[in-house]
Amino acid sequence: MAKYKIAWMPGDGVGNEVMDATKIVLDTLGLDAEYIHADIGWEYWCKEGNPLPDRTIEILKDTDCALFGAITSKPREEAHEELDESLKDKGLVYFSPIVKLRQLFDLHTNLRPCKAYEGNPLNYKEGIDLVVFRENTEGSYGGVEWYPLPEKIYDTLCDNPKMVKWKEKGLENVALSTRIMSKQGCESICRQSFEYAKKFGRKSVTLVEKPNVLRETGGLMTRVFRDVAKDYPGIDAWEANIDAMCMWLIKNPFDYDVLVAENMFGDIISDLAAGLIGGLGFACAANIGDDYAVFEPTHGSAPKYYGQNVVNPMAMFLTAKMMLDWLGEADMANRLETAVAEVISEGSIGTYDVKGRGKGNSTTEVADEVARKLSAVNA
Ligand code: IPM
Ligand code: MG
Repeated sequence: MAKYKIAWMPGDGVGNEVMDATKIVLDTLGLDAEYIHADIGWEYWCKEGNPLPDRTIEILKDTDCALFGAITSKPREEAHEELDESLKDKGLVYFSPIVKLRQLFDLHTNLRPCKAYEGNPLNYKEGIDLVVFRENTEGSYGGVEWYPLPEKIYDTLCDNPKMVKWKEKGLENVALSTRIMSKQGCESICRQSFEYAKKFGRKSVTLVEKPNVLRETGGLMTRVFRDVAKDYPGIDAWEANIDAMCMWLIKNPFDYDVLVAENMFGDIISDLAAGLIGGLGFACAANIGDDYAVFEPTHGSAPKYYGQNVVNPMAMFLTAKMMLDWLGEADMANRLETAVAEVISEGSIGTYDVKGRGKGNSTTEVADEVARKLSAVNA
């Protein structure tokens, strides 16, 4: 029996190509794992009306963790259009399977390291090394939203004198999404970010929030952050507003180290941080819970490139590296990261995003080159 059981979820579009590339690399490393394919994504929405079939959830429950390629998400109307004719009148509503998985398996922490590997021509500046801790199940992703609002809620809200203008607009003209956060959720993400800083000798943790406007949720997060920070006197605790942070990260990326944020602000700031280290082709991520984790790069399914085998698999390789770390395979994780770093710094093999349109190597060629480096070390 293999040491690990890993759910293998290529998902949509280029997710398939970067996962195939990752298989080459994991096999070269010799990870002792059984990979179990699990269906997820657009195809299953269209054919079955469910992008996350129950059988997939069962597979996940029976594995140590999951490796996930990418997902295609479309707005409600477009999603309905593409549904199989026989399913169109069943009142099905599309949902994002990755957001659902985070909720179902309580994958409360989204860890997104953004490191500028030396010699990457796409680096904004050499030496950037940021780590984003994104709360992964609450906030605007908590699923508490309505259109139209249940009358009871609408009436209760509109009874408040501050809300009169909404009453005037009429129930049918108002949609409501909320940002709902718990003290436990804030405490968990803040503590993990400080623990990480302590473990890896990071000098500061910055809370990215907007408590001057989102007074209640932002206020809660800020109070919790300050409380948790007291337990880590050796680590600087800074606070910044999300808008200012987008500017400061571009201006002075070296001032920052570990960043912690609620769900939506973490989503935003992690894309920005990815932009500083070469873009989504290099941005890895892990959705981590207490006893299960789903490893998925930050990038999407890039339908425009699907079928061409040209997208950058480095983000997926670095995501696999995070999986190896989580499984406790530190040696393999380090070897993989070293091989990736070598291929990047040598610069002879790279995809179109790195080398320019029409000049890039294929996804598979990049995988083969990383595998070659790994074999060279093995030899
Ligand atoms: C991410 C993505 C997802 C998110 C989408 C695909 C639902 O942007 O993982 O950052 O918003 O969390
Ligand atoms: Mg995102």
